[in-house]
Amino acid sequence: MKECDRIVDGIRHPWATKDEILEAMKTFEVREDDVWLITYRKSGTTWTAQIITILSCGCDVRKIDEIDPKDRVSFLDVLKQGMTEFAHVTTAKKPSPRIIMGTHFQSRHMPRELTTKKPKIFYVARNPKDVAVSFYYFHKSNKLLKTFESWDEYFQAFYDGDLVGGSWFDMNLYWWNRRNEDNVLFLKYEDMKEDLGSAIVKMSEFLGWPIPEGKLEEVVKHCSFGNMKKNPKFNYREMIDISVSPFMRKGMVGDWKNYFTVSQNEAFDKLYEEKMQGSGLTFRFEL
Ligand code: A3P
Repeated sequence: MKECDRIVDGIRHPWATKDEILEAMKTFEVREDDVWLITYRKSGTTWTAQIITILSCGCDVRKIDEIDPKDRVSFLDVLKQGMTEFAHVTTAKKPSPRIIMGTHFQSRHMPRELTTKKPKIFYVARNPKDVAVSFYYFHKSNKLLKTFESWDEYFQAFYDGDLVGGSWFDMNLYWWNRRNEDNVLFLKYEDMKEDLGSAIVKMSEFLGWPIPEGKLEEVVKHCSFGNMKKNPKFNYREMIDISVSPFMRKGMVGDWKNYFTVSQNEAFDKLYEEKMQGSGLTFRFEL
């Protein structure tokens, strides 16, 4: 039986985002030497988290294989099954520098200190049509999220910004408008997909964590979709029914074309135009 989500302050939250978590974010202490990874769901969080973790280990990919992604990715937003303590409580006790991965809060719910302190913040954006499809499958396979009767019903909810995490437009526009702050690195999934090596170099320079001579190629190979898909650790089996859809699904740009009807595509392009007008934020919808 899937649990229900609910709306708090105008944004839909999954059941696992408890009221205590939303309350705690108001006073959660951010540290200047933190590294944060913030994304709208299905935009490449796991991928980017893996790259940041490898960079933090001096690009020793053998070391990283010993770390369970579930142990290092601190999703502050949710109380995961089996967790005896909220992630914000655990994270508050961690020594610096902390790497805080996978936060999907819209600006109104994120830790307030993320606007006053200057930790390193990665924001990863992915074109909304591929996000929509990826999120559709995530709803189907995730035991804690609503399953939609049909793609059409789901599409309307995505279009309306009525899914857990709220509107794709609001969140991406917020971070796009902060992209020029010194402590913010705004990345695009499509750029990572096209040239992962350059994206990794950019990330390493932003962090000030150099890539040892001759290691880049190994890191690129390690973080390729094919390699990560083979790794059972990335399928988060407790929460995902992989017989419905694996977590590492297709990892491509342009899969939306197999789902959006012509009229849905036209309506979505119009909505994008309205919402993003004048922002300068554009995406590639195919490579
Ligand atoms: P698809 O469902 O389109 O395959 P998140 O981690 O934010 O939930 O994002 C998940 C999406 O990122 C999934 O997209 C997943 O396959 C994709 N992804 C994960 N690792 C990837 C990689 N190494 N290269 C490309 N895409 C990757």
